Amino acid sequence: MRILFLTHGFNSLTQRLYAELTARGHEVSVEFDIADSVSEEAVALWRPDLILAPFLKRAIPESIWKHHLCWVVHPGIVGDRGPSALDWAIQEGANVWGVTVLQAEAEMDAGPIWATQNFPLRRARKASVYRQEATEAALAAVLSALERLERGEKPTPLSEWPNARGQLRPSMKQVDRAIAWQKDDTQTVLGKIDAADGFPGVADSLFDQPCHLYDAWPEERLRGEPGAVIARRATALCRATVDGALWIGHVKRAGGIKLPATIAYAKESAGVPEVPLDGWWASEHATWQDIRYEEDGAIGWLHFDFYNGAMGTEQCQRLLDAFLWATQRPTRVIVLMGGRDFWSNGIHLNLIENAPSPADESWANINAIDDLAEAIIRCESHLTVAALGGNAGAGGCFLARACDEVWVKDGVVLNPHYKNMGNLFGSEFWTYSLPPRVGAEGAAMIMHHRLPMLAREAVQCGFYDAVLPAPTFRVDIARRAQELAAAWAQRRADKRAQRAADEAQKPLATYRAEELAQMRRNFYGFDPSYHVARWHFVSKTPHSWTPRHLARHRM
Ligand code: COA
Repeated sequence: MRILFLTHGFNSLTQRLYAELTARGHEVSVEFDIADSVSEEAVALWRPDLILAPFLKRAIPESIWKHHLCWVVHPGIVGDRGPSALDWAIQEGANVWGVTVLQAEAEMDAGPIWATQNFPLRRARKASVYRQEATEAALAAVLSALERLERGEKPTPLSEWPNARGQLRPSMKQVDRAIAWQKDDTQTVLGKIDAADGFPGVADSLFDQPCHLYDAWPEERLRGEPGAVIARRATALCRATVDGALWIGHVKRAGGIKLPATIAYAKESAGVPEVPLDGWWASEHATWQDIRYEEDGAIGWLHFDFYNGAMGTEQCQRLLDAFLWATQRPTRVIVLMGGRDFWSNGIHLNLIENAPSPADESWANINAIDDLAEAIIRCESHLTVAALGGNAGAGGCFLARACDEVWVKDGVVLNPHYKNMGNLFGSEFWTYSLPPRVGAEGAAMIMHHRLPMLAREAVQCGFYDAVLPAPTFRVDIARRAQELAAAWAQRRADKRAQRAADEAQKPLATYRAEELAQMRRNFYGFDPSYHVARWHFVSKTPHSWTPRHLARHRM
């Protein structure tokens, strides 16, 4: 089928549907919802059999839905309507939620139903549920709707749907989200921040200055006056509640961008007592710990749950310290687990934007992530595995490839290219790791197409090593890591020999120097594209046109 995506942006869910439908042989083109006339033009150019709206912030124009088959992917159960579907479900603690594919009609989200898919609602951040369960459910619902369409079936009107529980809900306002620090218990505060994460956050204040709160973590031990900031650790701040405490990882100050809490409030947090953890071992009680290490026999598990997968200079340095420490342990395999939602999205563009000299900070950050990648590549004591249970983008995809093995969960979406960020050349040793696996031509194609890649495509083309089914991902990586540990002696000898041969042919330092010479040009050179693109990215500038590599109808 010829399908046109009409969407507010090419976000994670849209990318997943795009890649899955393309892989099934559908011809998909994308138009961002900018103006009715632009959407009408896209429809006229692409002449789609179906228009799919996977992520839309306003209704499809009547001039389009009246004459074409249009489906809206709504992140809610049958009957649910309104723009804050997931927000209400999470804040009110629903146990089950869903995604529904509806036919677009005059009233938003009220058209007849093509398919729906429910899922158990995890107690987690909205963005996390959206990227994981809601995305899986959306794919299942869209595929089942397509099957119904192919069978010539008609959609079911809402009035005929048995036991529709959903209802019309208003847009959630900040008054609905407001935290009453003298009254709300920890679970309630966590629920409110989770329901608003990553957008719009909860409007609150810190150090008597207004801000939005994000990235909350429970804390089991610390206590204090409800609402008071009682501790800091690395980049997070701990606040007391009426019955305990929680950590705030990120905030957005009025007029600012989203930043780690102690950086957004650098001066104010300087006086807050630092409560460090004792080393890298996973804490036994709930607390803020972005890097944590666990061990099971010959296997070391290194988790790094960095918000949004962004890895700033200091985070890379701390992760390097943790990795080097892990290599001193009497284990044989180190599994780099990343975080639940993202494995890594490369250098931290918000911290770079916030720095006095973004060029200098970009340079420091790329060197810090390269130091980490280099330590992994040069590691001789252990076999290393990157286990991607969450999406990865740009440098994050290549940081993973620094490991001896890369295992990826089915459903993960990868963006192994840099050019979308103002034509960045990229580093993380991609020129060393990519071509031998996919060939020079394959590498050029991946870099230039700038399109998302499914986990199974990454394995098919040889970039990554194994795609593992989502439901058994943890069990499978544990089993595979044990097998690797059993083959350690031979594998380690092979790895050393390969590394020595590679080094003799072209030293790793040369790859790094060549990549960094290009990056230096991106950061300090005449062409400001990277700085402009980064500014648009962190400021979330609305799209004013659809990139050509997505809008195939405009090629
Ligand atoms: N630095 C800082 N923030 C980042 C980031 C990075 N490298 N990558 C993603 N984010 C943030 C986004 O700003 C967004 O923030 P929000 O919580 O305020 O909404 C959040 O992570 C999710 O990103 P989003 O773009 O909405 O997710 P997605 O799943 O739709 O898209 C990517 C994923 C990786 C394609 C996209 O985020 C991206 O292009 N990131 C930049 C990658 C990059 O160029 N890195 C630098 C070169 S190494």
